[in-house]
Amino acid sequence: MKFSSATSLLALMAGTAAMPNKRCTSNDTVPFTTIANIKVIDTPLVQKARALVEANFEPYLVRHMYRSWLFGAAAINNNATLAFEIDLEVHALGTLLHDLGWDQRPDSPWRSTNRRFEIDGAIGATNWIKENGDEADWDAVRLQLVWDAISLHGTPSISEYKQPNVRFIVESISMDYPGPHPSLTEEDYNSIIEAYDQSGLLEGTNDTFTFLCRTKAESTYDTWIEPWGVAFVEGYNPVGHRLFDRANPNVTSPAQKKRHFHGVY
Ligand SMILES: *[C@@H]1O[C@H](CO)[C@@H](O)[C@H](O)[C@H]1NC(C)=O
Ligand SMILES: *[C@@H]1O[C@H](CO)[C@@H](O)[C@H](O)[C@H]1NC(C)=O
Ligand SMILES: *[C@@H]1O[C@H](CO)[C@@H](O)[C@H](O)[C@H]1NC(C)=O
Ligand SMILES: *[C@@H]1O[C@H](CO)[C@@H](O)[C@H](O)[C@H]1NC(C)=O
Repeated sequence: MKFSSATSLLALMAGTAAMPNKRCTSNDTVPFTTIANIKVIDTPLVQKARALVEANFEPYLVRHMYRSWLFGAAAINNNATLAFEIDLEVHALGTLLHDLGWDQRPDSPWRSTNRRFEIDGAIGATNWIKENGDEADWDAVRLQLVWDAISLHGTPSISEYKQPNVRFIVESISMDYPGPHPSLTEEDYNSIIEAYDQSGLLEGTNDTFTFLCRTKAESTYDTWIEPWGVAFVEGYNPVGHRLFDRANPNVTSPAQKKRHFHGVY
């Protein structure tokens, strides 16, 4: 190796060490497009994820997935810290695919009969990325960021202490509940809402959580969507499923016995 190329290799290595990651905003070679006036990453995998959600979900939910992505993308575009920290492709896939577990179709490829919906989403999204993404691009770390963000997206009080990519995917989703966020300009917010209006979101959320409590109650007891079951599902009864029931010898539900059996207490 000639001296000059050794020098440039060293320079490249030094540069690499300082680079946050290869999908960040500062890499101008990543393809971009504009949606609702917001500049967003446009890799083939992101295009494929968009096609997937558009083909499989109700319009109100597709709009929610897009708004989560676009609110976050707009905030990243306006904030140098976020632009440095956030892997745009991880962010796009984490937001666009976060609600795979909401699929109410009987033959859903993502919704299980026993797991929390956030876990169905995390497993569904990461399996899909493994099948459709370039193996060289998707190492265990990037996959884990998507998995963690989707599994924690209903629990921001935990995710806010995770890695920036995890924290910010959840924050982007939360921006849609209920709306404007300090890191968005009014112009960006209005432009996103105009293209992807929020109609149906609250009704759809309510309907989905009620559906999950009705059809897979075990996965909802002792979680933050339990109140939907208590309020709206006949026969839904958390007693026996609450953590403190497990210490009470008088309460012996099947779930409790199972948990004792697995030694979870
Ligand atoms: C920029 O992104 C492109 C496309 O993902 C990638 O091929 C390239 O290696 C990246 N460049 C740097 C310096 O990370
Ligand atoms: C930019 O993002 C960082 C990281 O989330 C945050 O701490 C900071 O307050 C943001 N800056 C502005 C001006 O919103
Ligand atoms: C939520 O769903 C329940 C059950 O279908 C329904 O009774 C209730 O009115 C709904 N609430 C809202 C705000 O949509
Ligand atoms: C279990 O039931 C007995 C009889 O009804 C009652 O005296 C006791 O306080 C109960 N124990 C607990 C922990 O609730």
